Amino acid sequence: MLEATKNLETPLNRRRFLYFTGWGCIGIFLMTLFGGVMRFFFPRTIVEPPTRYKIGYPSQYTLGVSERFKKQFRIWIVREADRLYVIEAKCTHLGCTPNWLAAEGKFKCPCHGSGFTPDGINIEGPAPRPMERFKVMLETDGQIIVDAGVRFRGERGEWDKPGAFLKV
Ligand code: FES
Repeated sequence: MLEATKNLETPLNRRRFLYFTGWGCIGIFLMTLFGGVMRFFFPRTIVEPPTRYKIGYPSQYTLGVSERFKKQFRIWIVREADRLYVIEAKCTHLGCTPNWLAAEGKFKCPCHGSGFTPDGINIEGPAPRPMERFKVMLETDGQIIVDAGVRFRGERGEWDKPGAFLKV
């Protein structure tokens, strides 16, 4: 035992210990460097839902507000006598998702009580402006395509612009 302790303290063992520790540190450094380089080839990405999607045929929507795609795309499809348009289900106060109250004929935000008419105009509560609409168009197969990358704002008079609605 005494001999073993003595051996550890010899310059040779100390040199070997420093040798392996040094190479260990260099190895860790190189592996970290390699990991950093590899991360460059696999950048972090955020997968977002598509901004263009199909929501079926105009004939599938009857007069009134449809909640068919509220959960999936956070939109309502509204059909009036002569037009169809898509409202983003997002309150213009602080961004909560309002509820469609069919019995009362209005959208009501659960966060601070803003209310909106069926066409999205703010009528009560702190919401400062109407809800926004997304661009709609017809695909060659007759289905409706929503382009959530293009918005129309009612307070700017954009709801009658081409793309803000479909004639039905
Ligand atoms: S977020 Fe809708 S009323 Fe505040």
